[in-house]
Amino acid sequence: MSTRHFLTLNDLSSDEFRTLIQRAIELKAMLHRRERYEPLKNRVLGMIFEKSSTRTRVSFETAMIQFGGGAIFLSPRDTQLGRGEPIEDSARVLSSMVDCIMVRTFDHGQLELLSRYSKVPVINALTDSYHPCQLLADMQTYQEYRGDIKGKTVAWIGDGNNMCHSYINAANLLGFKLHIACPEGFEPEASIVESAAHCVSVMKSPEEAVVNCDLIVTDVWASMGQEEEATERLELFAPYQVTEQIMALAHDDALFMHCLPAHRGEEVVAEVIDGKQSVVWDEAENRLHTQKALLELLLVNQEPVRE
Ligand code: CP
Ligand code: NVA
Repeated sequence: MSTRHFLTLNDLSSDEFRTLIQRAIELKAMLHRRERYEPLKNRVLGMIFEKSSTRTRVSFETAMIQFGGGAIFLSPRDTQLGRGEPIEDSARVLSSMVDCIMVRTFDHGQLELLSRYSKVPVINALTDSYHPCQLLADMQTYQEYRGDIKGKTVAWIGDGNNMCHSYINAANLLGFKLHIACPEGFEPEASIVESAAHCVSVMKSPEEAVVNCDLIVTDVWASMGQEEEATERLELFAPYQVTEQIMALAHDDALFMHCLPAHRGEEVVAEVIDGKQSVVWDEAENRLHTQKALLELLLVNQEPVRE
């Protein structure tokens, strides 16, 4: 049996994605009823973080504890990864001990390399190219507030970044339309847009992008690793701020999402992120429930592939 990884949303079929959302909703209800469910007793998740994190770290660690297992936080500062041990060697060693490896890193190619040498499932917890775990939570949140997202229209406003790429994958898998408004030169990768050309439109104007939309999403203007560009981007991205005027052009019941952390007064004004249409706190909480559903899919009833 080959090891199943979760490197992008395309590692799921459309049906699996929908089932995972439903399962996350069930797991959330079970937790809120204080029902004990420990399907990963004695199983261990290794968590490699080469970038900062609040939500991802806490949600994966909590998920493993609630599931009866454990998680080990590994940063390059205090592992041999930070001293140049090849990723292939680290993958072989870690996967001979832990049951799953979660990775947050820069280059998506490094994640793919690690997965090739890992005997256990590898989960993408954000690379420069994708953030699929966040989309699981966003789609659960939409489902809870408005039902199936199929046939709806979503506007992505801002940088054509890792989150935007994962939104493109989600549009393709779940059947929604995606309007992307980015400053020139900050569009998503052309090959990723082409992979979902039937449901994705790239535009310049945020005003045009949000018309008739059911969900408005944005993210920071400078992602982790782009700190040096942050000042220059402030000016270039200023017309892409999500304001109350922008929200007013969408459907009256449109929701607002942001993966967080947010910069109020930059990509979104406080009145929107802290306003009635914003569902960012549920979105953040749902990281826990969707990742539990993901861990269950990858690890429960799957025998570890050890030689
Ligand atoms: N949204 C998200 O991934 O948050 P963290 O960077 O805090 O993990
Ligand atoms: N695009 C952001 C997402 C943070 C969760 C980044 O990569 O920094």
